[in-house]
Amino acid sequence: MMNLTIATQAVLEELSRMRSEGVDRIFVQNHTLKELESLLSANSEIENNYAPEDGLTQSSGSTQKSDYLAVEEPKPKDVKSPAKIKNVAPALPSPPSFEIPEGNKEKKWEWLRQKVLECETCNGQLNPSGKVVFGEGNLDAELFLCGEAPGAEEEIAGSPFVGPAGELLMKILNAMGLNREKVYLGNILNWRPRHERAYGNRPPTREEMEFCLPYLRAQLEIVQPKVVLALGKTATDGLIGHDPKRRLNQMRGTWHEVSDLPMMVTYHPSYLLHNPSRTSKRKVWEDCIMVMEKLRMPVSDKQKAFFL
Ligand code: URA
Repeated sequence: MMNLTIATQAVLEELSRMRSEGVDRIFVQNHTLKELESLLSANSEIENNYAPEDGLTQSSGSTQKSDYLAVEEPKPKDVKSPAKIKNVAPALPSPPSFEIPEGNKEKKWEWLRQKVLECETCNGQLNPSGKVVFGEGNLDAELFLCGEAPGAEEEIAGSPFVGPAGELLMKILNAMGLNREKVYLGNILNWRPRHERAYGNRPPTREEMEFCLPYLRAQLEIVQPKVVLALGKTATDGLIGHDPKRRLNQMRGTWHEVSDLPMMVTYHPSYLLHNPSRTSKRKVWEDCIMVMEKLRMPVSDKQKAFFL
């Protein structure tokens, strides 16, 4: 049987990762909550080591069918968490500074791609079998989607959004009447954040995001999309700067700005994979409809009614 401490740690890491994507609430059945409570009280080691500092608290409210386990943002003093996955990558130098050479979009993009693929720092952060992942897609795209960082599948393929989250993103794009060839897909980070475990993903550090930002901004400058769609809180923080008070739920559904371009914020597709409720899907879909309207794309009555 799997060691309970390891299992609990894995669950807490997953919750931390979800929180970094903007999830501030998860749905838990009453009986699951009871099981968890009895497990925790039977195992004081876990209770003492993990529960309080990770900021996981049970909300007092309840719904007709089940309770919620609210995952609250830690207060600044609580930020240290024993379950946090450790960054094991070497320290980073200051962010790169460069000028894109003259030329057409293709030439500029190819120059930048080579620069990133050869970037010593990016390569120095890789997992043994990993590749640097640069943005890709249509250089004339009207929509620029920005994710967080490559995951396990992406670092092997060297392409963004090719794993499960990418598959779901493609379904969302298809529902909008778009596809991979019509948009541009970028990430805050050009590598999969390294950590000390054999499983899970670590959200990028602020230092990592700051290092890669000039590369992302340069891609925005080359593509010149009409709209940027930030996927999740980390992507939002990476694009417009970290703000501890920021809540994705309050950001989504309204227009923001990045590099003088309109920016919509929505949940990361990984969030939907973990929380496939109709309500979450509808929220993401409403953000997508706003993007379509901004791009003057037709939105049919059928499309308007998705997930209602
Ligand atoms: N998640 C991201 O944020 N980016 C990817 O490229 C894949 C998964």
